[in-house]
Amino acid sequence: MSSDRRYFLKTVTAGSALIAAESVAKPFNIIRDLKKISPNDKIRFATIGMGIQGNQDTKAALRSSKDVEFVAAADLYDGRLTRVKEVYGKDVFTTRDYHEILGRKDIDAVLVVTPDHWHDHITKASLQAGKHVYCEKPMVHHISEGASVIEAWKKSGKTMQIGSQRISTSSFKEAKRLFQAGEIGDINYVESNNDRFNAIGAWNYSIPTDASPSTVDWEHYLGDAPKMPFDAKRFFRWRNYRDYGTGVAGDLFVHLITGVHFVTGSLGPERIFSSGELSYWKDGRDVPDVLVSILEYPKTDIHANFQMVLRVNFANAGAIANNTRIIGTEGQIEFTENNLILTKKKLPKAPGFGGYDSYNTFSESEQKEFKKKYDLEYPADTRTAEPVKEIKFAAPQEEDSHAIHFADFFENIRKGSIGTIEDPVFGFRAAAPVLACNESYFEKKIVHWDPVAMKKKKK
Ligand SMILES: NC(=O)c1ccc[n+]([C@@H]2O[C@H](COP(=O)([O-])OP(=O)(O)OC[C@H]3O[C@@H](n4cnc5c(N)ncnc54)[C@H](O)[C@@H]3O)[C@@H](O)[C@H]2O)c1
Repeated sequence: MSSDRRYFLKTVTAGSALIAAESVAKPFNIIRDLKKISPNDKIRFATIGMGIQGNQDTKAALRSSKDVEFVAAADLYDGRLTRVKEVYGKDVFTTRDYHEILGRKDIDAVLVVTPDHWHDHITKASLQAGKHVYCEKPMVHHISEGASVIEAWKKSGKTMQIGSQRISTSSFKEAKRLFQAGEIGDINYVESNNDRFNAIGAWNYSIPTDASPSTVDWEHYLGDAPKMPFDAKRFFRWRNYRDYGTGVAGDLFVHLITGVHFVTGSLGPERIFSSGELSYWKDGRDVPDVLVSILEYPKTDIHANFQMVLRVNFANAGAIANNTRIIGTEGQIEFTENNLILTKKKLPKAPGFGGYDSYNTFSESEQKEFKKKYDLEYPADTRTAEPVKEIKFAAPQEEDSHAIHFADFFENIRKGSIGTIEDPVFGFRAAAPVLACNESYFEKKIVHWDPVAMKKKKK
């Protein structure tokens, strides 16, 4: 790729990001609350949903800065509130009702770490109550909920971050730099898979022996989901049910898409198709355990058109080799754990002839003629390819991407900036296509999406 084109890509990338931001900002009435938090003040935060990730997020938030304080937690299972006091100290305020947290003036920020069906409700209520919000992925449970969350964020003037923390690793930042410098040529394909074969990996988390309607606030938990009698599986293994979760697409594809959007600067796909089945975990769940989706990304000012194929197989009893590869016409970027490998490969100008080729089927005289013409057209210096180059990037071993993601959230709160590395517009542009993957699977249809307007299209 010429240096001109690299320069072009870089400048267009910056310009297009601005245009994109403006195009989504227009319909909303933005009220910026530019009040900064003084560097001497601690940011006091609460976590709503103190399950597995609620604890991971709380600890990462505390690791991210010494100037933050964990002061309150809400959860619907009493055992988890007891655990909060055991782990974080008896002074942490605990409640079953998150409204009690939102009503407190001494809390600056909340972490929304509930099952997916609560994300939009708690996020909007928190923003309206004047809190900064870190909301777990996927940002919403249904595509129809995205616009109102974005609107609430813009009206609030508060900082918001979505929780796909992997994009805060230095390998993703390096991949973005390499991609934008044109190192893999024109992108044409992305593949990513995330297979598992074990019960916990397939979301069958442990259920406590004291789970009952007296230790769990079941009525509150149901929220906007259909009413039904208490069922511990539906509470502690909520990912298995569409009423509360978003299946493998919302749980895992969303991380893959978020990474690809971050690296490529893409706003999203236009056509989405899925195929899948419930193959092994027939334990009452109503979501597939094998899902393959194809997402068609249109050409934009900053990248060529490309296909993305995502796969999750929770019943892969064969060899599991999970990877993410972004492939282009001059190489690929492959992610391995926290590292990446850039492989650069360019074809020689001369196509070659002979071997498994039609050349050998030509008459002797035609072979001679062919060779004469070929030698004239392709001098020696066009016949050898540049050697394949492999460049490895290893993130520092002590790197803590989860804490870095939180540091970005807290730093933006301090600066009085509403944006973050993964704001709700970015978060919704990753969430909506994965929710469309589910829609395609369940309704057996191709979903058409407008990634700029962030709306479903008829065709
Ligand atoms: N970023 C990541 O890598 C990552 C990893 C795991 C989970 N997550 C996300 O985190 C969220 C939580 O997942 P989890 O695995 O921790 O689930 P979990 O079941 O372990 O915990 C969820 C907790 O939320 C509580 N809860 C439910 N509704 C509530 C409400 N209205 N008010 C207060 N508390 C409520 C429940 O009591 C439960 O303890 C999900 O959105 C999930 O997608 C993100």
